[in-house]
Amino acid sequence: MKKIFTFIIAGLLITLLLVAFSPKHTKAPSTDYYNVISWNDLGMHCANKDFSNMCILPPYNNISAHVILQGSSTAAPVIMDPATSGISVTYEIPGNTYSIGKTNFWTYAFQIFGVNLPDNIGLTGYGLSGTMADSNNFYHVQGIPLTPYPDNDLVNEHPYQLTLITAMNSGAEVLATTLNTIPVSNEINCVSSGCHTSEMDILQAHESVSGFNINNRPIFCAGCHADPALGTTGSGGAPIFSQAIHSAHGGIITTDCYKCHPGPNTQCLRDTMHSAGTWCTDCHGNVAHVGSTIAGGRTPWLQEPSCGATSCHGANFAEQPGLLFRQSKGGMGNLMCSTCHNSPHAILPSSRSEDNLQNFALQGFAGTLKKCDVCHGYTPSGPGPHGIYAGIKPISGIIPSQDELLPNYPNPFAFSTTIPFRIKTPAWVKLDIIDLNGKKIQSVLNERLQAGEYKTETYATHLSPGTYLCCMNVSGHQDYMKIIVVK
Ligand code: HEC
Ligand code: HEC
Ligand code: HEC
Ligand code: HEC
Ligand code: HEC
Repeated sequence: MKKIFTFIIAGLLITLLLVAFSPKHTKAPSTDYYNVISWNDLGMHCANKDFSNMCILPPYNNISAHVILQGSSTAAPVIMDPATSGISVTYEIPGNTYSIGKTNFWTYAFQIFGVNLPDNIGLTGYGLSGTMADSNNFYHVQGIPLTPYPDNDLVNEHPYQLTLITAMNSGAEVLATTLNTIPVSNEINCVSSGCHTSEMDILQAHESVSGFNINNRPIFCAGCHADPALGTTGSGGAPIFSQAIHSAHGGIITTDCYKCHPGPNTQCLRDTMHSAGTWCTDCHGNVAHVGSTIAGGRTPWLQEPSCGATSCHGANFAEQPGLLFRQSKGGMGNLMCSTCHNSPHAILPSSRSEDNLQNFALQGFAGTLKKCDVCHGYTPSGPGPHGIYAGIKPISGIIPSQDELLPNYPNPFAFSTTIPFRIKTPAWVKLDIIDLNGKKIQSVLNERLQAGEYKTETYATHLSPGTYLCCMNVSGHQDYMKIIVVK
């Protein structure tokens, strides 16, 4: 009776939360205005449900978040540093408050991983709610032991639940909240795909391997097969797990990754590139290729496809050298790529509404976070992420009779200065800040413009105090203006 009661309350709670959720960013008494923006690392986490025979992956979800102090026309936005800001960030999964009984992981955790875990606590010490840790300039929680079963439905899998992230100041005052997907699936399909008759059947086929004892269940595959996802290094000459599994199956399954990855129900690949017709094999190659590249030296989990550099999108849209998308910063200051794009395999806009919820709440439409005033409090006319301009438009209907750079104001300046200029015919316009030795220090504008009167801005954030020249380059003709930075 008590249990049923809890379910009803939980069911009610999640309904209320979903109904009540609208972007909440509270103005603190100081009028400071914050956003918290969260994402998960992989786009999908897969875990076994039943650990009595074998374990491929434990329940283990990872979530990160930036807290950003909104800027204004006189101040840049600030990415709050967890170490010094005094802001704490909590996570919870509304309507999913326990995992015990939804999986038998805790019955076997000691046998598999050799650790004694309290109920509902995962391998890294985190539970289904708590406080996120400091991960340099963002907040992070690693190893949430989440199952795909909310408290009010223990039967059907819900791979796209939501996590509620709350940023609070040291006085426990809520600064901002957000909801984003916390993806988890139990679709490891060895049996449900119709390929193997049972897990015992898989284990029996493995009995010829020396040192393999089928009575020693649960069998932890990564115990013998090295697996960077679980930090195991392998033993007894067993091939690396990802190599073993993909190479052994590559002759039978060529392109249908959902035979094992989640899956026919989950449909984990749901990003904008998938909507445009991209399939796993376009980025990863076929099943045999995933295996053979490991034999050829690729480290599984750590050497994966990339967006840019030598790949499809080029250098302007690349990850940091040597790092994965989920590990990279850039595009704008020190923001993680996922801040604006969400996670790999769920790059926005996604075909799942849960993934689109956060950016919809922040900027009023789904897709890449690109409405500048979400973070800036206004639309800067300077170059934004990847050098993209929010769009510079003529400020009058006048067509000038000459190309001309006009005096910037204020000058001297400490934060930003406005640079007016005129273009007599449609032309490619370049505005650069150069030092007195002629060395380019910062680009202000690099765009084809219609004839007209314009103004743009530049910022002192990355300029030392001193005298510089603003240089306008139009149709081979140059114009200079002296600008002075004070701080
Ligand atoms: C006791 C150590 C051990 C455990 C535990 C173990 N394996 Fe293996 N496995 C091996 C070794 C050693 C080989 C290489 C055998 C060979 O090359 O003949 C192997 C080979 C394989 C292959 C390749 C077979 C082929 O035909 O090429 C696959 C697939 C595989 N293991 C999957 C698994 C899975 C799934 C699990 C967990 C259910 C698992 N292994 C658990 C030691 C182990
Ligand atoms: C548009 C290209 C693209 C497509 C399509 C794609 N992936 Fe990926 N995948 C990536 C990239 C990029 C990474 C590395 C991302 C990271 O970890 O930061 C990755 C990483 C992975 C990883 C390792 C975990 C991780 O996120 O690092 C797995 C597993 C994976 N992909 C499986 C799949 C499967 C299965 C499919 C199809 C259902 C698929 N991928 C489709 C680009 C793609
Ligand atoms: C026979 C089952 C099976 C099939 C089919 C399969 N995978 Fe996997 N894959 C796995 C398992 C199991 C893991 C987890 C391995 C581990 O924990 O290291 C995995 C892990 C991965 C990884 C992360 C490790 C790495 O090698 O970088 C990638 C990427 C990946 N799979 C891509 C694919 C793609 C792309 C396809 C389809 C073309 C595919 N897989 C088809 C079972 C499969
Ligand atoms: C501040 C937000 C922001 C950050 C952070 C960000 N991007 Fe972007 N990114 C954008 C916007 C805006 C676009 C333009 C796409 C649009 O309008 O939908 C874009 C476009 C892209 C594209 C598509 C380019 C094309 O060819 O159309 C790729 C690939 C990309 N970004 C990769 C990255 C990578 C990799 C990182 C991290 C190093 C990153 N982005 C960080 C905002 C961001
Ligand atoms: C997710 C938050 C976010 C979004 C969205 C965003 N920015 Fe920024 N932007 C920042 C942060 C944080 C900085 C500060 C970087 C630093 O200190 O170096 C910054 C810095 C800048 C700067 C340099 C200003 C300075 O003070 O150095 C310009 C110009 C800029 N952004 C333009 C844009 C434009 C244009 C857009 C929209 C197309 C945009 N930004 C969208 C977070 C964002």
